[in-house]
Amino acid sequence: MRFVSLLFATAITLSPLVAIAQTANQGGPLIDYGTRFIPEIAAKGMVSGPEKLASEAGLSMLKRGGNAVDAAVATGFALAVTLPRAGNLAGGGFMLVHLAKTDEQVFIDYREMAPASASRDMFLNEDGTVNKQMAYNSPSAAGIPGTVAGMIHALENYGALDLKTVIQPAIELAEQGFKVPAALHLNLRAATQRLARNEEANRIYLSGTGTAPAMGSLFKQPDLAATLRRIRDNGTDGFYKGKTAALIVEEMQRNGGLITRSDLASYRAIERQPVRSMFRGYELVSAPPPSSGGIHVSQILTLLEPFPLKELGHNSAGYLHVLIEAMKLAYADRSEYLGDPDRTAIPMTKLTSEVYLSTRRAMIKSDRATPSSDIRPGTFDDAESTETTHYSVADQYGNVVSNTYTINFSFGSGIVVPGTGMLLNNEMDDFAAKPGTPNGYGLVQGEANAVSAGSRPLSSMTPTLVFRDGKPWIATGSPGGSRIITAVAQTLLNVMAFDMTLGMATSAPRIHHQWMPDVAMVEPGISPDTVKLLEGSNHKIFRSNSTIGRVNSVQIEDGWFYGYADPRRPGGHVATW
Ligand code: GLY
Repeated sequence: MRFVSLLFATAITLSPLVAIAQTANQGGPLIDYGTRFIPEIAAKGMVSGPEKLASEAGLSMLKRGGNAVDAAVATGFALAVTLPRAGNLAGGGFMLVHLAKTDEQVFIDYREMAPASASRDMFLNEDGTVNKQMAYNSPSAAGIPGTVAGMIHALENYGALDLKTVIQPAIELAEQGFKVPAALHLNLRAATQRLARNEEANRIYLSGTGTAPAMGSLFKQPDLAATLRRIRDNGTDGFYKGKTAALIVEEMQRNGGLITRSDLASYRAIERQPVRSMFRGYELVSAPPPSSGGIHVSQILTLLEPFPLKELGHNSAGYLHVLIEAMKLAYADRSEYLGDPDRTAIPMTKLTSEVYLSTRRAMIKSDRATPSSDIRPGTFDDAESTETTHYSVADQYGNVVSNTYTINFSFGSGIVVPGTGMLLNNEMDDFAAKPGTPNGYGLVQGEANAVSAGSRPLSSMTPTLVFRDGKPWIATGSPGGSRIITAVAQTLLNVMAFDMTLGMATSAPRIHHQWMPDVAMVEPGISPDTVKLLEGSNHKIFRSNSTIGRVNSVQIEDGWFYGYADPRRPGGHVATW
């Protein structure tokens, strides 16, 4: 079947304003009453996130005169209490901020770092195979945490309120407790086996009995409250030095982890230049290495730009064919070129250039899937020297924040550092434990991302801002490990190429392909007829019962804020003012 004429480029026009601007403004937001998946709407500010109490904690900062950074930091600390699956103090992430006053964007890298004694083969058994238990579930799986440094860096440089104020809601939630919502109960129920293996995790999350707390029961975390109070009183030193640092190091020494006092004391958040790209007149600003997110979202969108996407039809076999092929090409490059930019020369400009991508685009056949084994990472003429969480915030002053942070797997390594109430990340598995061998997300990665002391493991986290006519328009991002990139790319394509509202764009079924393994995962909701057409054209399809990403976004239109929290997981919440 011939899906699409590659030579036929659609006329490139700016999308009309989603389905919103159908009715005249009569003193309210311009939303069409008949719109499906209506977003939350606000006039003064908004936090779109994965958990209600944390979104409300962020919003409370806006209400007391704080800006979007204050709200983002308050939300980040609160999620460490209310969303232990992914919210964290002992993980890392990326925060992308649009500053209204200077009209610039700041990207804060607070990714975890490999300890000084980490080494390339540290996760290999004697026979050369990867020791998954060690890479996923042991203290050695933990990178030096970056979250506290990142949150405080953001606050001190771009916030308006002080640390005592923004961390207070988190302290209260941990100290006074909160009623276990359905989402937390379900998360814990799904993770009981893993958490029960660690005495401290079992004590805190499973009442020492191996069972999840009942929905509606009061959940207090006094150790975590004390850890938060030490941060409140001493800033970064309250985490990277003193009692918390000592407790982390004790756990490492007791159970064979690598993080030392000096690793902790030397950790710093870093500001980097974000990745910038254009798609049909919109400017995308997104995550640079050590995330692969911005580069590969940009590659996927640029590869698809000349195709008549809307004419092919959203989630039609023709559209999904070119989308899958673009994903494969992008992830093949990821496997070869991406790593910590402070250790590896990454040909960023080349990877996202139209000249390079036009040669890659030419590899997309109109009627058949190209097997992944036939796709190699691209070459250049010259060398240039799952579980995570995302929230988006916008304030009345024009500032916008897109933040994704993680402890990697759901509940990280499953190990709570005794006395701190906090779960350790297992982010070291985002390195290639053995280049060429799949990691926990099935990602095949190369030498550029081998374990190396002091490096930051390659990430897929993709906090992104889209600008229209030079003004911030959308803040978005997602959890989902390797699926983050494809979830964000599809959400953006849905809005920018298919003119969907944020609600439609977020809710629409997604697909995912990551080059290796050579299989496209499709969410329920993609038509069986479409799947058959794809299979008839050589695509290998995995009909998944699970979902791809969880996109929480804010859109700013005509002075109004529109927010949408992905319904793929329970508990998402848009706090509005
Ligand atoms: N831990 C998932 C990621 O950073 O991509």
